[in-house]
Amino acid sequence: MDGELDVETLRARTPGCAHRIHLNNAGAALMSTTTLAAMTDQLQLEATIGGYEAAVRAREHIDATYAALAELVGGRPGEIALFDNSTHAWNAAFYSVPLRPGDRILTGRAEYGSSVLAYLQVAQRTGAEVVVVPDDETGRIDLDALAAAVDERTRLIGLTWVPTSGGLVNPAAEVGRIAREAGVLYLLDATQVVGQLPVDVAELGCDLLTGTGRKFLRGPRGTGFLWVRPDALDRLDPHVVEIRSATWDGQRSFRWAEGARRFETWENSYVNVVGLGSAVRQALDLGVERTARRVRALGARLRTGLDAVDGVRTHDQGVDRCAIVTAAVAGVPAAEVAGALAVRGVNVSTTVPEHNQFDTEHRGVHPLVRFSPHYFTTGDELDHCVAVVAEIARLAR
Ligand SMILES: Cc1ncc(COP(=O)(O)O)c(C=O)c1O
Repeated sequence: MDGELDVETLRARTPGCAHRIHLNNAGAALMSTTTLAAMTDQLQLEATIGGYEAAVRAREHIDATYAALAELVGGRPGEIALFDNSTHAWNAAFYSVPLRPGDRILTGRAEYGSSVLAYLQVAQRTGAEVVVVPDDETGRIDLDALAAAVDERTRLIGLTWVPTSGGLVNPAAEVGRIAREAGVLYLLDATQVVGQLPVDVAELGCDLLTGTGRKFLRGPRGTGFLWVRPDALDRLDPHVVEIRSATWDGQRSFRWAEGARRFETWENSYVNVVGLGSAVRQALDLGVERTARRVRALGARLRTGLDAVDGVRTHDQGVDRCAIVTAAVAGVPAAEVAGALAVRGVNVSTTVPEHNQFDTEHRGVHPLVRFSPHYFTTGDELDHCVAVVAEIARLAR
C-alpha cells in the first residue's frame, strides 16, 4: 500500500488523540476504536457465556493473531509464541540456550536493562562470559569488532535493534549475516521496532525475535510475542515445561509441542490476544512501509526542532534513526521537563540509567527526556511540543 496516510481519519479513530499530545508511543501507544471494540466484545462474551466457552467462540480471532504476527515479521503462524510482554518472550528464548563454563554471549551497548540482568544471572549460574561489543564512531554496534569477537566459544549474539533509550537503529541484518556465517544463535530484541519499522526475519537472519504489543503496534498492555526459526528449535532447551508446551507420553517422559508453541504457557488473556490481533491487522492494512516513512519523518522533524532550541540538545546515536527522540534541557532535570510537559497536555517519558546499564557506563547521559511520536501525530503537535520545551529552556536560563 502506498500514498499518503489519512491522518485525520486515523486520529478520529484514536480516542486518546482528542485529549493529549501523545509522544509516549515508545512507552505505550494509543489504541484504536477497532482494537478497543474487539477487546470489549471478547470481555463481554467471557462475562456472558464463560471464559473457556468464549475462547472456543473466538478461535478464529485467536488464530488470526498468530497469522497476523507471522505476516508482520515474515514467518509462519507455527513459529510464533504468545506472551504477556516482550521480556517474558525474550526470557523464554534466552534461558533456553544451553550454556557451559567458558561459553560466550556477545551483545552491544544498546541492550535492554532486563536482558543485561539476565545475562549477568546466567553468567553467574553457568560460568559463561558476557562480552559487550563496543560501538562504532556513529554509536551503532561496531560490526568489525563484532565479527572479530566471534570465536568457537560464542554461543549467542543478543542484540537490541532499537534501544529504549534513543533513536538509534542498530544494523540488525548485518549482525545477522555475521551470526549466520559463524553458525551462532542470534536473538534479536525488536520490542521498539514492531509497528514502527518493517521487519523481515529472512532478511534479518535472526533465529529468535521478540516484540511487544503495547508500543508502536498499538495493541493492549500485557502482550508480547516470540518468533522462532524452525531450524533453531533443536538447539534450544525450553527453560520451563508445562501442559501447553509439552504432553506427557504416558511414561516418565514427555514430548514437546510442535514449533514455537513449546515456549508458551496454558493460561492466557484472550481479551488481550484478540486485541493484539486487531492491532497487528491494522498495522498490516495500513502498510508498515508507509507508516514507517511517516514516523521516521516525524522523528527527524522533532529532532531538528529541538536541536534548534537554545539550551536543548538531542542525544540520539547512529546513522539510521527512528521516531524515538531523546534530549536534555540545560539546567533542568529530565523528570522536571517531563512533568512540565505533562501539565501542558504533552505525554513524554524519561530514560532510566539503570535500565540502560552498558550505555550508562559508556555515555552517562541518562536520564533524558524521551519523545516518541507515532504516525497519528501531527506536525502541529510537534511544533507545539517544541515551543513548550523552548519555554522551559528559556525559563531555566
Ligand atoms: C528495547 C526494549 N526491549 C525490551 C523491553 C521490554 O518490553 P516489555 O515491557 O514488553 O517486557 C523494552 C521496554 O521498554 C524495550 O524498550
